[in-house]
Amino acid sequence: MATHAHDQDHDDRTPAEYWEARYADGHTRWSGAVNASLAAEVGSLTPGSALDVGCGQGGDAIWLARHGWTVTATDVAQSALQVGAQAAAQAGVAGAITWERHDLATSFPDGTFDLVTSSFLHSPVALPRTAILRRAAAAVAPGGTLLVIGHAPSERHPHAGLQTADEVVAELALPADAWALRTCALVEVEHAFPGEEPTRRTDAVVRYERA
Ligand SMILES: C[S@@+](CC[C@H](N)C(=O)[O-])C[C@H]1O[C@@H](n2cnc3c(N)ncnc32)[C@H](O)[C@@H]1O
Repeated sequence: MATHAHDQDHDDRTPAEYWEARYADGHTRWSGAVNASLAAEVGSLTPGSALDVGCGQGGDAIWLARHGWTVTATDVAQSALQVGAQAAAQAGVAGAITWERHDLATSFPDGTFDLVTSSFLHSPVALPRTAILRRAAAAVAPGGTLLVIGHAPSERHPHAGLQTADEVVAELALPADAWALRTCALVEVEHAFPGEEPTRRTDAVVRYERA
């Protein structure tokens, strides 16, 4: 689910060009499993409607659907959405997930959601991450949850643009009278890409509840 460090080198392609090429072989690019930090943060919430922003091949969206959520999953890469839709059908949750292609820099799914979540919305090409995450916050229904999981800066991921949880909170700048900060943490996660040795990484995890 995490990006490899060397993928973050500078690249002039558009987000659609870059990410379609990245996913073009139609194989599962990430492990296909849920991100551990999402499962930990969402497990105790009452299922409702959910939006996954930058869903990739849908590991989180499928996990949410299996746990009773009705999910809208969005990404710029149509080929990733197709892999996700196939995996959802195999998991028996196709009817619980709507797959929508958006370049989130310029368009966004309609509506509001009980949970809006984004895992590792990082990119080596142009990505107005904070603007997209602020738009994601605007899509949280009253009483709902915003969950942002990212790579914390580390030796493995030393790239400019990665943020600690405190930095995510500072950039989002959500008003304290409308948003209760429930989680703001750096979380150590053991993780393995398919066919590779497990490694440890640090997730920056931010969870808000909207008044
Ligand atoms: C590192 S992957 C994470 C995917 C997934 N959330 C996961 O945890 O496996 C980042 C995702 O962001 C998507 N993305 C990057 N720029 C985007 C944009 N402008 N609009 C929509 N999605 C974008 C990519 O296509 C990619 O699937």
